[in-house]
Amino acid sequence: MLSAVAVAPELRQYPFEPFTGELSPELVGMIETDPVSRVLLPDGEPAWLVLDYAGCVQVLADPRFSRVLHQPPPDHPPLRDLNQDGAAHAAVRRVGSRAFGGRRMAHYRPRVQALVDELVDEMIAGPRPADLVSGLVAPLPLLVICEVIGVPAADREQFYGWLAGLNSVVDYNSMEAAKSLWVYLAGQMAAKRAEPGDDLLSVWLEGDDHGLSDEEIIVLAMGLLRGGLEVGSTAAGVRVLFQHPEQLADLVRSPGKIPAAVEEILRYTAVSSMFRVQVVTEDVTVGDVAMSAGDRVMAVPWVANRDPRVFHDPNVFDIDRVPRTAHLAFGYGPHFCLGTALARMEVELSIATLLRRLPGLAPAVPVEELPWRHDRINGGIEEFPVVWREDQ
Ligand code: HEM
Repeated sequence: MLSAVAVAPELRQYPFEPFTGELSPELVGMIETDPVSRVLLPDGEPAWLVLDYAGCVQVLADPRFSRVLHQPPPDHPPLRDLNQDGAAHAAVRRVGSRAFGGRRMAHYRPRVQALVDELVDEMIAGPRPADLVSGLVAPLPLLVICEVIGVPAADREQFYGWLAGLNSVVDYNSMEAAKSLWVYLAGQMAAKRAEPGDDLLSVWLEGDDHGLSDEEIIVLAMGLLRGGLEVGSTAAGVRVLFQHPEQLADLVRSPGKIPAAVEEILRYTAVSSMFRVQVVTEDVTVGDVAMSAGDRVMAVPWVANRDPRVFHDPNVFDIDRVPRTAHLAFGYGPHFCLGTALARMEVELSIATLLRRLPGLAPAVPVEELPWRHDRINGGIEEFPVVWREDQ
C-alpha cells in the first residue's frame, strides 16, 4: 500500500504572464478570491502578493513594512535616501518636496506646454505614420526633468546618454552611467552653490538648512531622475482612448474634461504588473493572512485600482466616473509619488495638445498589437505608430 506523502504545493511564478497592456481577468479576479497569495518572484524568492485596495494601502503606509531589504553592516551606515523608512526617508523627502510646491508647478506649466508643442511640431513635420513614443512620450519627461534640475542645454546630449542606462534591467553599463551622472551632479552642485539659479538643485541647497550632506543631495537628485524619466501613462492613455472612440470624441469636443480623463487613465491603465518589494519587520496580519517578520511582500497598486469594493464597475473605463475615489497610481503613504503634479501636467498637456493639433488622431496598427517593452523597470509601450488628417 502506498503511504500518503505531504507535498508542499508548488508556488506559482509571478508575473503570471508577460505584460502586454491589459491586466488579465484572472489577476483582477483574484482581488476578490485571493487578495493575499503566495508567489515566487523573478529572483526565485517567495513573497506575498497583495492585490486588494485595503491591503495595498496597508502595505504601502504601515511602518511594519520596510523598504530596506538588506540591512547594511553596522560599521557602514548608509547615506539617507528615499528608499529608506521613517526618519531617514522623511529628512530627504522634506528637502525633495521643496521643488514641487504649487507656485513652482504653475511656473513650469508654460514651459512644459512649449516643450510638448515643439515635439508635436516635429511629429507634424516628420514622416507618417509618426511614432508617438519616440516623438513625444519618451523625450518629454527627459526634457522636463532637465529643465527642472537645471541641466544646461549644452550638456543635455551627454546627460541623456547616462539617463538611458538608469532604469534599464538589461543594460550592464548602467553602473558606469550612474557613476558619470554622480560626478556631473556633484559639479553642478558646486556651480549652483557659487551662483544659484531658478532650478531644483539651487532650491534644495537654499539656506543650507536642509540638513543633508552633499552626497545625500546627489542621491536625492538621482532618485528624482529615476522616478521622473518615464511617464508611460500618456501612451497608455492614448491607447485606451482609441479603444473607447466615443469617449475620445467627447474629449475632442470638450477639452475641459481632460484633467478628469487623466485621473481615469491613471486609475484604469497599468504599464506593468509589478511593483516594489518590501519586507515585514514584525509579525502582522493583512486581510486574514498572518505574515512573519522577514517575509517579503509585493503590493500591486495598479491591480488594487480595480477593486470592486472601492470602485463601481472597476473594469469599465469611464472618464465621467462618479464618485472619483482616490486611485493608487501614484502609490500611497509616506512614499506617495513626489512628482505627482509634474506627472499629471505632462500627461494632461500631452493628451490635450495631441487632440487639439492632430485632428482625427488614430492608431496605424491595431492597438492590441502594440509592442510592450520588457527591458525597463517601468515597462511601457515600445512603439506606437499613429496617423491623423491633414486638414489642420
Ligand atoms: C505618470 C507618471 C508617474 C507615475 C504613475 C508615478 C508613480 C509613482 C509611484 C506609484 C510611486 C511610489 C513608489 C513606492 O511606493 O515605492 C512614485 C514615487 C516617486 N516618484 Fe513617481 N510617478 C510618475 C512620475 C513621476 C515624475 C515625473 C517624477 C519626478 C519629477 C516622479 C518622482 C518620484 C519620486 C522621487 C518618488 C519616490 C518618492 C519617495 O520614495 O518618497 N514620479 N511614483
